[in-house]
Amino acid sequence: MPIPPSHSPVQTDVTSPLEQARHDFFERVARECGTPCYLYDAAEIEARSQELQSLFPAGVSRLLFSFKSNPLPSVAAILRDTGCRADLTSPGEVVAALEAGFDLSKALYGGPGKGTAELTAAISAGLRHFSVESDGDLAHLAEAAESLATPVKALLRINPRSAPKAKLAMSGVASQFGFEEEVLRATGRETLALAGERVAVAGIHLYWGTQIGDPEALLTCFAKTVAMADELSGALGFPLEILNLGGGFPWPYAHRGRGPDLSPLRDGLAALRAASGPAREAEWWFESGRHLVASSGTLLTRVMEIKRSKDEKDFLLLDTGIHHLGGMAGLGRIPRFSIDLEVPPARLGNPGILVDVVGQLCTPLDCIGKKITLPRVEPGDLLAIPNTGAYGMTASVTGFLSRPSPSEVVHRGEKILSSHRLRGGHERIS
Ligand SMILES: Cc1ncc(COP(=O)(O)O)c(C=O)c1O
Repeated sequence: MPIPPSHSPVQTDVTSPLEQARHDFFERVARECGTPCYLYDAAEIEARSQELQSLFPAGVSRLLFSFKSNPLPSVAAILRDTGCRADLTSPGEVVAALEAGFDLSKALYGGPGKGTAELTAAISAGLRHFSVESDGDLAHLAEAAESLATPVKALLRINPRSAPKAKLAMSGVASQFGFEEEVLRATGRETLALAGERVAVAGIHLYWGTQIGDPEALLTCFAKTVAMADELSGALGFPLEILNLGGGFPWPYAHRGRGPDLSPLRDGLAALRAASGPAREAEWWFESGRHLVASSGTLLTRVMEIKRSKDEKDFLLLDTGIHHLGGMAGLGRIPRFSIDLEVPPARLGNPGILVDVVGQLCTPLDCIGKKITLPRVEPGDLLAIPNTGAYGMTASVTGFLSRPSPSEVVHRGEKILSSHRLRGGHERIS
């Protein structure tokens, strides 16, 4: 029987046979692989990838999967099979991409502060396309490419003057990311001179932010990117072979529901391309992590205890917490998030309880939901947190308290395809 994905409709107090089947499957996975457990639905990943790719100008667009959202090779391999390329930002992600069977010569390597040694290793591993973030970054890439006598391509990442309408703007604000738009305009030729013999500056990269709320806001960002790319490539005299328009395609995080209808992007992007200058001849690249894998993921967790404190507050203690589902909340930039919890069908008729949802870490910061109302559950019950396929493990404080990582299970319908666990512990280096 097919298992409804985690963006299926809000749970009601009526237990449908499908909900029971879904819960029975969850129980089986929990028994076989343990809890907590991240469950990833292969069919859901395929559907999101195909849908997103269908919105981009056909034949001239490429979708890159951002490994930072979920580097599990078995997940990434599903995206590779749907035609995605890899968007990588660390040596570990390179290893994961190789394991997932990606062609690294078509992948992009980005991120600030890469350094010559890391860039040399990336080129040696097979990477040929780099997003460069500063004069220093370009000089390091030139040095690495020269040392290996290997030609590579660079995309200049831009930090534009204006900020997007996004939950987390990564441009238009002071940041470590990219060349300032106006600085590039003023002194870009000096920057290009740093590329040396082996690095060909071949385009522009602009990532506006994550969770850009709707197609209109996305199109506004893309239009500005195209205009900037047209202008800068002309003014500085480099060919616009590749235009990386970034993404920021939204999806709920740890809440039920779906992302907005992005279908207006199809006509909007086609019109943008038709009206563009040199950008019309470029390959258009898009990047996505969240939108591709968030909906595939469900975090299964057991109730350990329900505890009353000071006669005023109830705590629902789970075997998961901010070390598995951190949402980067502890890092200060993102407002503390809250979660939806699916309870076992048999509990749906129970009277409601109001709880703070906490984990097993020795810090009051280990709270993944405040003032959550749910039907009364009991220790041992298996709960599910939907839409957790992106930025689950990767946005969590995994090292704190040395608790084991959750199991991570890829499934298709009721069939478990593979199961994994992120390794912990220390490797001795001297
Ligand atoms: C440069 C860059 N590309 C792609 C992504 C992936 O973003 P998302 O997961 O929102 O699609 C990020 C996320 O921070 C990013 O910084």
